[in-house]
Amino acid sequence: MLGIEPLTAEEITFLLDQSKPFQEIQKHPLKKLATLRGKTVALAFFEPSTRTRISFATAASRLGADAMNLQAESSSLKKGESLLDTIRTLDAMKPDCLVMRHSASGAPHFVARRLPLAVINAGDGTHEHPSQGLLDALTIRDGCGTLAGLNVTILGDILHSRVARSDIYLLSKFGCRLTLCGPPMWVPREFESLGAPGSSIRRVARIEEALEGADVIVTLRVQTERLHEPALSLDEYILRYQLTPERLRRARPGALVLHPGPMIRGLEIDPAVADGPQSCVLEQVTNGLAVRMALLFLLIGTGGEATAAKDSTHAAD
Ligand code: CP
Repeated sequence: MLGIEPLTAEEITFLLDQSKPFQEIQKHPLKKLATLRGKTVALAFFEPSTRTRISFATAASRLGADAMNLQAESSSLKKGESLLDTIRTLDAMKPDCLVMRHSASGAPHFVARRLPLAVINAGDGTHEHPSQGLLDALTIRDGCGTLAGLNVTILGDILHSRVARSDIYLLSKFGCRLTLCGPPMWVPREFESLGAPGSSIRRVARIEEALEGADVIVTLRVQTERLHEPALSLDEYILRYQLTPERLRRARPGALVLHPGPMIRGLEIDPAVADGPQSCVLEQVTNGLAVRMALLFLLIGTGGEATAAKDSTHAAD
């Protein structure tokens, strides 16, 4: 699972459908299954993460698998070991799959080409974050009842966002009309042709216009760690692009507000919106667990042949 771009709408629908039983399990008092008992998931995060790393580790644990955790900051990478030698070392301990995040776009693809190990991309540079794209889609499908034909506005630092790319690849396959809004240097023209063939992607400079009639708003973090020169001052960004309650009123009543996290409250999003009734931020986190359980189940369980519902034996059973 290296990206959303090569998947068809049918394959994505299958993955979302497979996540449904795992959403139900999160509500169960006993959340631990034995489905992947004896399997090992290697987690190698070479970039900071709260949600994705803990979510994959929890997904593995709730399926009964063991997790092998590389702490990049305290690993032998610091002594000069290469990425490939580090991953080969993990592979020699015989995990069943590798979940990998790296600051270089294409790093998980580089590893997947060289090792016979199943690799899940947990975010590569500014390229893709496929499990985030899937959990966003699950949240939107649950909230709107469909993915088809929605008006979706993506707001903020789109250029540096792997979440934006995965969301654009995914939502455009379902006929969503996408509006991209942010400082012009962060919303380059190339993004208009990023979607599925025939998809509608427009760039809009004014946030008020971009929010008009939106069913869903995806707000993105300003990725200061990837900025070499600030595009504009943070004060100006707040003034022109922050999602405020007043601006949100231009969207459809009840429009969903998503943010992949981490949120910088008071910068890209007003705390009143982040904590407001339309915010799906924590629902996204819960859905992320379901999506990642489904991915692990399908990749290293019997998921290739069985459905999650048929194979959700509790560890206690
Ligand atoms: N959404 C996301 O990828 O968050 P983390 O960086 O905390 O994993």
